Amino acid sequence: MKEELSILIQAQYPLIYLVTSEEERAEQAVASIAQVKPNRRVFLWTVTHGIVEYGQPRNVTQHNTVSPEAAIEWVVRQKEPGIFVFKDLHPFIDSPAVTRWLRDAIAGFKEAQKTIVLMSPVQNIPIELEKEVVVLDFPLPNMAELNEVLTQQLEITRSRRITTETREKLLKATLGLTHDEAEKVYRKAYVTANRLTEEEVDIVLSEKKQLIRRNGILEFIEEDETLDSIGGLEELKHWLHQRSNAFTERAREYGLPQPKGMLILGVPGCGKSLIAKTTSRLWGLPLLRLDMGRVYDGSMVGRSEANLRNALKTAESISPAILFIDEIDKAFAGTSGSADSDGGTSSRIFGSFLTWMQEKSSPVFVMATANRVERLPGEFLRKGRFDEIFFVDLPNPQERTEIFRIHLTKRRTDITRFDLEQLVSICDGFSGAEIEQAIIAAMYEAFAQDREFTQLDIIAAIKATMPLSKTMSEQVTALRDWARQRARPAAASVAEYQRMEF
Ligand SMILES: Nc1ncnc2c1ncn2[C@@H]1O[C@H](COP(=O)(O)OP(=O)(O)OP(=O)(O)O)[C@@H](O)[C@H]1O
Ligand SMILES: [Mg+2]
Repeated sequence: MKEELSILIQAQYPLIYLVTSEEERAEQAVASIAQVKPNRRVFLWTVTHGIVEYGQPRNVTQHNTVSPEAAIEWVVRQKEPGIFVFKDLHPFIDSPAVTRWLRDAIAGFKEAQKTIVLMSPVQNIPIELEKEVVVLDFPLPNMAELNEVLTQQLEITRSRRITTETREKLLKATLGLTHDEAEKVYRKAYVTANRLTEEEVDIVLSEKKQLIRRNGILEFIEEDETLDSIGGLEELKHWLHQRSNAFTERAREYGLPQPKGMLILGVPGCGKSLIAKTTSRLWGLPLLRLDMGRVYDGSMVGRSEANLRNALKTAESISPAILFIDEIDKAFAGTSGSADSDGGTSSRIFGSFLTWMQEKSSPVFVMATANRVERLPGEFLRKGRFDEIFFVDLPNPQERTEIFRIHLTKRRTDITRFDLEQLVSICDGFSGAEIEQAIIAAMYEAFAQDREFTQLDIIAAIKATMPLSKTMSEQVTALRDWARQRARPAAASVAEYQRMEF
């Protein structure tokens, strides 16, 4: 990033838009670039102090540069080359006068070796400037930068030396945080335990989880279940097993590309979310859930985009990781017609998401689930976007037997008293979730009567259930018809699948 910024400045790009919420770090990055190659002076503008040269005390300001227009005018008047960082211009950028001043200013910069850098936590560029500006995303700190934070913290607290291994663990635990957040987390861990050693890694991690949850869009998910607690879906499991080591160095050396992601389509309650969550354990990667509903925020122009961008940035800096987007159909439903309803926000978000998926080079594996294909935009389903699109159908008899076994075994050690074959034969069209619910209902019934639950209780519960495949049979049939043509069955190999009867 720094390199790119440096190249842009040397190449005399007049206007650079730096998206970041970490002013201080970004400021330092600009200053260090200015010191080395182009050797330019750096000036900062804030709405409170006007223009101040970088490194000077705040009260040494340039006169009458507090208003945005005056500040830009001052920059235009400068004869010397320089980098002018505007920290607070984004709230004013929509004003016609400010836009005009900026356009005229940069038009005259060509030979002057002057660059204006706009710094802002949200990306909001008036259409008049779109062609003139280059947008750069300031990334979160990497391991080396976090190492500086940690080293400083260890010095301040006069902690004892730690091994390289411990250091690495402490650093990894703060990946995904900003510089200031990492500093706070280390400090808190130190204050809590009065030291900073390997044993404090857990404190650091749980602090990070809280910080990440606080912005409400990403959440760390921990799942205790393993792939074995899912009945059936053998093809899908096999596919996942095959890729257990896909994110290792060894796989790269072998020449394998990094898996990009998968989409799991299917009937509600058949284990889509569960399989996504258990993959995290199988692959040994952290699972981050992206809540698309929370990305949308109409309070300010560009806010939704900024939310998505930040969430993806965080996921990338924690990578290798799995990014879990449950029920993605709800988020991108009706994208095409959204221009009327929400000013086009959802199509823009959808567009940026697709672009990100296409271009991402960091090992973030996207795991998305959806129920309603007809709501998904076509671009999404095109081959190559995801490594694979799986279809999870209602369980066949063999799979239902397994699901009964799994859920009964979870609750009772001895399940020989149940006749699984009989149970399976009477719950045709039931989803895994409905089978589980029937068992739970049977247990409640028996518990209320103060006795152990039996085969008959489960039969009664099954009889009392109207499965979704019946109440919503049209939707389920439509989904199946669609998916049989276009998606890979999660249950079994294609040949087997075609022989099956539903
Ligand atoms: N194949 C299965 N094996 C074992 N349990 C299952 C299976 N399918 C569903 N279940 C049970 O049903 C619960 C709900 O399933 P899950 O939330 O994964 O379904 P889903 O496909 O994501 O449904 P939805 O489309 O409604 O989100 C699971 O937590 C699990 O207990
Ligand atoms: Mg689900």
